[in-house]
Amino acid sequence: MSLHVGLLPALPPGLALAPLASPPPSALPLASPTVSLLVRWLHVVAATVALGGAVLLWGVLRDSSVVDLDFDTDSTLTLATAYEWLFWVALGALVMTGVGNLGTYAPAIPGGSWAAAMTWKLAAVFLVLVGSAVRTLLVVRWRDGGASAPDRRRVLRVGYAATALALAGVVALAEVLAHG
Ligand code: HEM
Repeated sequence: MSLHVGLLPALPPGLALAPLASPPPSALPLASPTVSLLVRWLHVVAATVALGGAVLLWGVLRDSSVVDLDFDTDSTLTLATAYEWLFWVALGALVMTGVGNLGTYAPAIPGGSWAAAMTWKLAAVFLVLVGSAVRTLLVVRWRDGGASAPDRRRVLRVGYAATALALAGVVALAEVLAHG
């Protein structure tokens, strides 16, 4: 059957419409598979640094005898300061590469349970960001003195435990997104 549209001449009988030589722009991926893989790799590495560091700090503040260090106030705060730097670099990388991960789904971002998991993940990330801002401010303030050493240690131990647990929850939601 030939197609006859408006004033265009009819196609000769038997001539089928050929598929488009290239997909329409809306169907093109935003990045090459290699770039997407690199972005996802960076996302996972940054998640590992943020979560692994929080677990390490939590463990060390629970029982300083696990490492051969004299955990006076200064060394605890030195370790905490090092982690705070790492944490914010990792979170910056996670947010940027997270947006890149979303881009690999464009233009058809999934809905339904995927969207629900994504919403929970973003809410959890937001809570981690707010809680971590408080944690970092405490570390910075205590470097100039403040609460007693046992109090600092107790508060930081709880802070790193909460960070580790919240990030573990974010990773669980992330696995639902990627593989659920
Ligand atoms: C604004 C923040 C973030 C956005 C927009 C975001 C977005 C995403 C998206 C869309 C995926 C799915 C990728 C895929 O289907 O292949 C993903 C995977 C993942 N995300 Fe995030 N993410 C964010 C923050 C985080 C944070 C804070 C963590 C961890 C602490 C994290 C850990 C992961 C992990 C472990 C995966 C699984 C990767 C895989 O198994 O291939 N993300 N993220």
